[in-house]
Amino acid sequence: MSFDSEMESLNLKSNMTLKMVEVEGVPFFNTIAENWDSIWSFKARPDDLIICTYPKSGTTWMQEIVDMIQQGGDPQKCARAPIYTRIPLLEMCPPRPRSFGFELAEAMPSPRSIKTHLSVQLLPPSFWQHNCKIIYVARNVKDCAVSYFYFHLMHSYFPEPGNWNQFLDIFTAGKVFWGSWFDHVRGWWEAKDHHPILYLFYEDIKEDPVREICKIAQFLGLELSEQVVNQIVQHTVFENMKVNPWVNYTTLSPSIMDHTVSPFMRKGTVGDWKEHFTVAQSEWLDDICARELEGSGLTFRTHL
Ligand code: A3P
Repeated sequence: MSFDSEMESLNLKSNMTLKMVEVEGVPFFNTIAENWDSIWSFKARPDDLIICTYPKSGTTWMQEIVDMIQQGGDPQKCARAPIYTRIPLLEMCPPRPRSFGFELAEAMPSPRSIKTHLSVQLLPPSFWQHNCKIIYVARNVKDCAVSYFYFHLMHSYFPEPGNWNQFLDIFTAGKVFWGSWFDHVRGWWEAKDHHPILYLFYEDIKEDPVREICKIAQFLGLELSEQVVNQIVQHTVFENMKVNPWVNYTTLSPSIMDHTVSPFMRKGTVGDWKEHFTVAQSEWLDDICARELEGSGLTFRTHL
């Protein structure tokens, strides 16, 4: 089956489902492809901070941690707006009339924090020219795939994912929005040798949030007291983020995200994949992973 007909065979869930169009071989929302020139020519500022992830890797978690660090651990200051306007998704282009991500970012005063899911070769050149700091968060491919499956079910811009087996095939082939997980995590891993990129892992943050928050603060050139670090850990623990409307996406219209289908803050664990993968699927993906990441030195933990 050709790529196009495979995509067409995915049911459009609603009239809000966006079409898949490639930019430089990476599938995106058609709205992103249509606005690609504006995204690519985005003007970075030297003090911009980028938070970059493959979708469903703990982006929102990192956004809230970063904002808490920058606000000195004050949760009231982080409650000034929903996370998606405090730290906008650069390439987000919903159907009009909502503001586009790059338009929100352009209007923000410095210093700005900006989120992106772009793969390394698609980051607008201005960020490299200004040597902007980048925090990258990677999550193991199995939990990432499961999380993306449920996200497809609950988010109206995404097509019907089919059943789990069908989705896993499409995901592994990189025929999902933002493309191949393998290319993403590997591309950014290799870029970190040449740019100020702090490459973190979801599993490490889960295991020892104090250690990882201290790493982030150091990368940002900020000193935090033990008390502030503990406040940040407490505020950003999954159970608290799940009920925090400023980060759990319940402030978005249910016509965009339907939390009754699957909440945005779903499980927040390492190893939920074991509830979804067969042994054969797990071994198959291990083999692909080993092949795709061979020689990179990049390894992932799938349980703690
Ligand atoms: P699950 O679907 O596995 O629960 P993103 O923000 O990149 O879209 O990632 C969403 C995933 O991160 C979801 O994973 C979500 O539950 C998880 N997540 C969000 N906040 C978290 C937190 N504070 N701790 C752990 N996981 C979190």
